[in-house]
Amino acid sequence: MSTHELYTTGPGEGVWQVPATGAARFSWEYADGRERLLALYQKGKDKQWDGAKRIDWELEVDPYDPLGTPDEALTLHGTRHWAKLTEKDKGELRRHYTAWNFSQFLHGEQGAMVCAARIVESVPDLDAKFYSATQTMDEARHAEIFGRFLHEKVGMLYPVNDSLRGLLGDTLRDSRWDMPYLGMQVLIEGLALAAFGMIRDTTDKPLPKQILAYVMQDEARHVAFGRMALRDYYKQLTDAELREREEFVIEGCHLMRDRLQGVEVLENFGVSKKEAREFSEQSEFLHLFRRLLFSRIVPCVKDIGLWGERLQKAYLEMGVFEMGDSNLDLLMRQDEEMAEALDRERFATEERERVAEVEAAIADGHRPG
Ligand SMILES: [Fe+2]
Ligand SMILES: [Fe+2]
Repeated sequence: MSTHELYTTGPGEGVWQVPATGAARFSWEYADGRERLLALYQKGKDKQWDGAKRIDWELEVDPYDPLGTPDEALTLHGTRHWAKLTEKDKGELRRHYTAWNFSQFLHGEQGAMVCAARIVESVPDLDAKFYSATQTMDEARHAEIFGRFLHEKVGMLYPVNDSLRGLLGDTLRDSRWDMPYLGMQVLIEGLALAAFGMIRDTTDKPLPKQILAYVMQDEARHVAFGRMALRDYYKQLTDAELREREEFVIEGCHLMRDRLQGVEVLENFGVSKKEAREFSEQSEFLHLFRRLLFSRIVPCVKDIGLWGERLQKAYLEMGVFEMGDSNLDLLMRQDEEMAEALDRERFATEERERVAEVEAAIADGHRPG
């Protein structure tokens, strides 16, 4: 079935064209790679996996409650609209929210793939090109998986959110080669990672849990790449150049915080944009969510050396300043371990089932006939 039949509202043009700027760069130095980056490239190759095989697509998903979302997490909960909703309406609401969320993940993954490919093209060093080529493949697999989940299990998609699209466009239109890293690897991926993590750690539904745990295992490498590349590069920039990057980060953070709230969903339920924004502002759940969304970005930005006064002030105002001290390496390690633990658990269960089947067959065979 064509995706266009599953969109809640038409996504506009069939193909979104962002004019490319900047140079494609070739390097003739093939033997002088940085060890850490080449190790990451090796890991990127070793850890490829196939979503068609690793994920158990047989698992059933209730399209009216794909994630097991509690009432309190729905923005309309506690508003004057809530009492009017029937159980069926609430199911529709859950379906729309999941469709909205995972659609933004899907469009974001396509964006990540395009940005990773842009980095292959524009970054001057061959070691970074090699690494980014593996990331391009990772992001293709992620887009494939989120797309499959939405088409097969939810049956509904939302178009890309305006702010996400704006940030993607700004990131891609910029001719400076570090901007796809900063916009994509640090901001958009940082936000996505935090959102993935919150769902992974709270959902009791096995299919979305598998998807998110496995995707996050890859994302840990992507963030490591962005940090390595930018930390080295930003040491060489002038103060003025660093301030420009900080402005970009501040603006991007504000945009994502204020606009990535699923207002489009409530509009589809007859709530005005203005009221939907107010509900999102007031929702206690979204308050927590918005703060946690920055748990991956703030320590990363600090780590790559964008920690000027203006940025610190902006983060203080947003109430996320102290997240700068959280241990990003530890978080990433945990992401990888969680995926590995999930594999062990699943394969242990399969093994137990297999043994039980064999034992039952043997018992049957021994039964006097
Ligand atoms: Fe991804
Ligand atoms: Fe990624």
